[in-house]
Amino acid sequence: MNATGPGGVDPYLSPIFRDADPDGAVLAVIGLGYVGLPLAVAFARKGRRVVGYDIDAARVQRIRAGSDETGEVAADELREALAGGLDPTADPEALRAARFILVCVPTPITTDRRPDLGPLLAACATVGPRLSPGSVVVFESTVYPGVTEDVCGPALARASGLEIGREVLLGYSPERINPGDRRHRVDTIVKVVAGQGQALTDALGRLYGALNGGLVHQAPSIRVAEAAKAIENAQRDINIAFVNEVALICERIGLSVHDVLEAARTKWNFLDFRPGLVGGHCIGVDPYYLSHLSQIIGHEPEVILAGRRLNDRMADDVADRIAFRYRAISGQAVRPRALVLGVTFKENVPDQRNSKVPQLAGRLLRHGFDVMVYDPHIDPAAFSAIHGLTAVSTDDLKVFVADVLVLAVAHREFRALDVETVVRMLSPHGLVADLPGLWRQTLICKRLEYWSL
Ligand SMILES: NC(=O)c1ccc[n+]([C@@H]2O[C@H](COP(=O)([O-])OP(=O)(O)OC[C@H]3O[C@@H](n4cnc5c(N)ncnc54)[C@H](O)[C@@H]3O)[C@@H](O)[C@H]2O)c1
Repeated sequence: MNATGPGGVDPYLSPIFRDADPDGAVLAVIGLGYVGLPLAVAFARKGRRVVGYDIDAARVQRIRAGSDETGEVAADELREALAGGLDPTADPEALRAARFILVCVPTPITTDRRPDLGPLLAACATVGPRLSPGSVVVFESTVYPGVTEDVCGPALARASGLEIGREVLLGYSPERINPGDRRHRVDTIVKVVAGQGQALTDALGRLYGALNGGLVHQAPSIRVAEAAKAIENAQRDINIAFVNEVALICERIGLSVHDVLEAARTKWNFLDFRPGLVGGHCIGVDPYYLSHLSQIIGHEPEVILAGRRLNDRMADDVADRIAFRYRAISGQAVRPRALVLGVTFKENVPDQRNSKVPQLAGRLLRHGFDVMVYDPHIDPAAFSAIHGLTAVSTDDLKVFVADVLVLAVAHREFRALDVETVVRMLSPHGLVADLPGLWRQTLICKRLEYWSL
């Protein structure tokens, strides 16, 4: 295992850490978003005292009132956690009570697609002064190998005046939850853990293992755990880029990529990925962390960035194909109306972070369409204010008629649409463009002018 203290002694075995007991110590979770809140709630429901700290005081208020707008934590679970050990707060002084501090703040990218470690450094600046000898700080945010020990460690040392690796120990345990996924949850996912020293790694295994029945993988070092997370999402991105490329090829030769994939999938070792827009704060972002590290150590990444390039321009390519297909069937209609169904980055969640649908809608605008969007999971006024696109409400939809109906996100509400409803929403000779291929085996596909990837 990586770190040992003076004289080869495992630092976590020092008496300084006697209160950092994985089975009983007070915990703190920094950042109560998609990752932090479910984690804090899971620990609190196991009877642990958890200080949940977030800089967003309004979000803290809503959580205290029992509501989680991300939809990740059910109301009854949140109530149970609040009645038990969860104390959501925007007051950093409350962090002094904790021995294990679990950092779950965002790790976005800058406009030039470089890692933005600002939120992590800000969290270190907040946590540092509230640490005392015997504290353990575990990072869950997605980073590239080296960030925990080479960036966060020194930041915590500066802010605390304590020696990292002796008085304060670091750990890393990547979060792997998947928004909207009811199967892969904090209590069912294998948790990768690594700490400074074997004894701390064991302790982190006990801490997290208490949530998921011991589904823990001990990585041999913090860097290995960081790298494992970074490649998990890069691998998904590259595989989706491949099927997106296949989709664009198939579309041009008049084949349905879905038919092609369905046939290929019958081979035992064919990898099952679906084409589509890659948005969100993970798959479209994390590969840039890996490519950044690669570039600073002198290896120009080829596959990782090729996948990113293709997925980043997929929304434009799809809009171009839709415009081309619509013109082929309708000639040059003056300002045809396009209604885009779904704007979130994936189905059945309200999360719009880095969604590629606004890019697709913007490209359709440039092709001369009047574009409206509709999504039952969002607030239309807020969306319009942010993106400058017209978002319609469910009531507007009842009287709206589009020339092109673009199904962008396979929300369950759209899955349930029948052909009569779609016919009512579509002008005669209008086009249905179905990105996820949701309706390809329904009457919508059979009776209407239909395009899919
Ligand atoms: N969302 C996911 O499904 C998912 C899955 C795996 C990993 N991750 C990773 O987990 C990390 C967190 O992601 P998320 O989706 O929960 O982000 P999020 O934006 O939903 O939540 C982050 C929270 O942190 C708060 N915050 C920001 N800066 C802070 C600071 N300095 N101090 C305290 N709070 C602060 C924000 O107000 C927000 O409530 C990221 O690194 C992400 O890549 C996310």
